[in-house]
Amino acid sequence: MALPQSFLDELIYRCDIVEVISKYVTLKRSGSGYVGLCPFHNEKTPSFSVSGDKQFFHCFGCGEGGNVITFIMKEENLPFPEAVKLLADMYGMTVPEDDGGSDQARRLRERLYALNKDAARFYHSCLMEPEGRRALEYLQGRGLSRRTIVSFGLGYAPADWDRLSRAMLDKGYTKYEIESAWLARKNKSGGIYDAFRDRVMFPIIDIRGNVIAFGGRVMEGDGPKYLNSGDTPVFSKSRNLFAMNLAKKSKAGRLILAEGYMDVIALHQAGFDYAVASLGTALTAEQTRLMSRYAKEAIICYDSDAAGQRAAQKAIDLLNRAGMEVKVLRIPDAKDPDEFIKKNGSEAFALLLDKPQSDSEYRLAVIRSKYALDQDAQKIEYSKEAAVYISTVQSPVEREILTHRVAQEAGISAAAMEAEVKRAFTAALRRERKKEESEALRPVRAVQPRETGLRYDNPRSALCEEKLLALLLEDPELLRRTGAVLAPEMFSSPFLAKIYQRALELERGGHEIVPAAVMAGLEEAEARHLTGILSAKVASADAEKEAADYIAVIREEHAKKQTEGDDRLMDALSRKRERKG
Ligand code: CTP
Ligand code: MN
Repeated sequence: MALPQSFLDELIYRCDIVEVISKYVTLKRSGSGYVGLCPFHNEKTPSFSVSGDKQFFHCFGCGEGGNVITFIMKEENLPFPEAVKLLADMYGMTVPEDDGGSDQARRLRERLYALNKDAARFYHSCLMEPEGRRALEYLQGRGLSRRTIVSFGLGYAPADWDRLSRAMLDKGYTKYEIESAWLARKNKSGGIYDAFRDRVMFPIIDIRGNVIAFGGRVMEGDGPKYLNSGDTPVFSKSRNLFAMNLAKKSKAGRLILAEGYMDVIALHQAGFDYAVASLGTALTAEQTRLMSRYAKEAIICYDSDAAGQRAAQKAIDLLNRAGMEVKVLRIPDAKDPDEFIKKNGSEAFALLLDKPQSDSEYRLAVIRSKYALDQDAQKIEYSKEAAVYISTVQSPVEREILTHRVAQEAGISAAAMEAEVKRAFTAALRRERKKEESEALRPVRAVQPRETGLRYDNPRSALCEEKLLALLLEDPELLRRTGAVLAPEMFSSPFLAKIYQRALELERGGHEIVPAAVMAGLEEAEARHLTGILSAKVASADAEKEAADYIAVIREEHAKKQTEGDDRLMDALSRKRERKG
């Protein structure tokens, strides 16, 4: 992606972030900026702030932040070039096409969307023709109606080596396109062969209705049970969910999260049109954010085996972090929701859904399952482990209910169990204090950016660099004067140096210094970290004096590093001399 920087700069100057975000979020004035309910996680009190002066947004709840382009990318789930295009359209600007790179990439994506759609049609028609009879019987044998098969666009990939590839070549797609869409692989002699053969096909459709990938299941014989498209220019496994295109239209206000394609399809057929699944991999934070945009509540309905339960544990945390209320449904006497519905019918599943376990009940059930409660010694062990968990529950009412329940199950008095919980609570508090104390002794640790890949080598200097930048980006005059005495090379953090450098360039070019412009071209994580730095800034009584202090530390640390380097050089030299001597 290489749009000219000058164009991006102009776009950011022309767009008013407050105006753009107002189209999506109700904003209220607050202090010098605006606040509203964060669109990226669920919340009841606004922690999403938009600054018109700085032209960026930042959420104090979930940490999301960035400029107007970042916002559109997240809100509309668009890649960078398409977000830029949307904004340019909004403000009557034309995206330059001179460089060709981005244009070419966009054209390829459009071709791949069309190709995937044609491939889905091809697979579906194969299913309905005589050669797909075995596959159709397989699906019907698994209880799917014609209507379900059609509405999910299920298909059959013929057993031959290149039926799909040939059909798509005939339609005018190139080998390169077919391979890029992960529909075919290259062989040694430069030809291509179909990636999916003799499999039942499940098209994966994004929230805008584009076919973006496929999953294919074997009916019998060897090979992995499911084969899934790898990532392509139009498909990212970690950002999409199976059936989200359908679930987003549901009126249920909640989502069921299942493990597999067949579970989701069986659930939809049974009337639960709000079921989705991740795509053959563990759930990701991006997927939970997508879910939280469409519903407040998630009901995890994973397989009942140990692996499914472990995955559920992780999903709970991720979904909570995305601000969703989470319930976990444990499926009695069946492997997965698909089997359960087949065995017991959809009414039985509806009953299960009506009383799903809350997170705490679920966690307690997991602990309970580890102990044989017909033995006294095990009962005591159970009450101890349960107490540790209960002591972490926030709500006093819930704590009380759980305490009484465990007391009953373990055959001890409620008072004894209460004492156990209290003990666990104090022990945890003590651990927490110890941890805080040791953190206080190493204050630099708290400075490290949350984003991995953005570690500070010299946190003392980096902290000053951060604070200095926050000052300078608000004060062009101070920036100009600092630029004369402090070179970006003196910064310890290459990331912060890059921002400083960019601010200096803008200033020297006579541009207005808007943080959003400084942010252009930063990685997502970097932009988020930068908005965090700028938002944390408090008004300074004497910016000049403060800046001078920071500059002094940065210089001091830089000088230290220089002499360290010299020392190392001297060491090396003297060692060399010794060896020679
Ligand atoms: N999966 C996969 N590759 C495999 C096995 C499973 O990608 N070799 C993914 C698929 O997305 C599948 C999900 O994991 O839908 C759940 O796997 P599993 O529980 O084994 O399959 P079911 O959905 O129960 O499939 P089926 O009922 O068709 O056996
Ligand atoms: Mn299954």
